[in-house]
Amino acid sequence: MVLSEPLLTIESLSKSFQQSQGAENILNDISLTLYRGSIVGIIGRSGAGKSTFLRCLNGLEKPDAGRILFGDQDLCQLNEVDLRKCRQKIGVVFQTYNLLQSKTVFDNIALPLILAGIKMPLLNQRVEAVADLVGLSDKLLSYPHQLSGGQCQRVAIARALAIETEVLLCDEFTSALDPETTLDILNLLLRLRQKLGLTIVLVTHDMNVIKHCADFVYVLDKGSVVEQGATIDILTHAQHPVTQSLLREFLKDQLPDFIVS
Ligand SMILES: Nc1ncnc2c1ncn2[C@@H]1O[C@H](COP(=O)(O)OP(=O)(O)OP(=O)(O)O)[C@@H](O)[C@H]1O
Ligand SMILES: [Mg+2]
Repeated sequence: MVLSEPLLTIESLSKSFQQSQGAENILNDISLTLYRGSIVGIIGRSGAGKSTFLRCLNGLEKPDAGRILFGDQDLCQLNEVDLRKCRQKIGVVFQTYNLLQSKTVFDNIALPLILAGIKMPLLNQRVEAVADLVGLSDKLLSYPHQLSGGQCQRVAIARALAIETEVLLCDEFTSALDPETTLDILNLLLRLRQKLGLTIVLVTHDMNVIKHCADFVYVLDKGSVVEQGATIDILTHAQHPVTQSLLREFLKDQLPDFIVS
């Protein structure tokens, strides 16, 4: 991959949470750069701090120290109004889709547009355009309970892209899907990157997701980046024990049962 210009630059990010036994460091001095149009994977064991890191990136958590530079703005220093505007460019999708069950697909996708004060007919045009991008034009009047898991995740992606999204943050977003549907959704992300120049951060336990999509990988352990590199290098020359053990599990899953047992 040829690197384009940096879109998000994270410098020395740290975050602690108050626990019963006192403040606990959850993220320690994390620095990384997201280049426009790149797909970056973040892997690590449960509790490593992956979701907390993602929540800092879209302003849901405030770091204790460090900077998150988006263009020339530091997300950590913005006031409420400017942060809200900035967050419109950063979409998030989760494992559980987080759709409103009593609303149609159209209304779910329209939600961020309504919150941003966008009115008809632009609202209509925008919902139809993103629904088309994710292949859901014929489901706009359906309700979430009438959709498959893969279709629900497409609605969540469309909703995350509804405004002028430049960065899409995905937290274990394929964990509830079967392998075939996961592949469909990953291919959709690759098409969206191609078409929109979208920059994507994938937090995942699943090395298949990394192998299929990510250009670059960061390995988090106990809140620190312990290894980073181009996906091919991580898959073939992992150095850190955590990366090696995640890879071992991945390779074991690829082998037929009679070899593993
Ligand atoms: N709001 C909070 N208050 C206190 N502790 C928190 C809070 N959010 C997260 N933590 C703690 O921070 C640590 C990292 O949590 P986080 O959810 O970021 O991990 P993760 O890497 O996403 O794990 P998983 O793979 O299981 O989703 C955990 O020990 C968790 O208990
Ligand atoms: Mg998590």
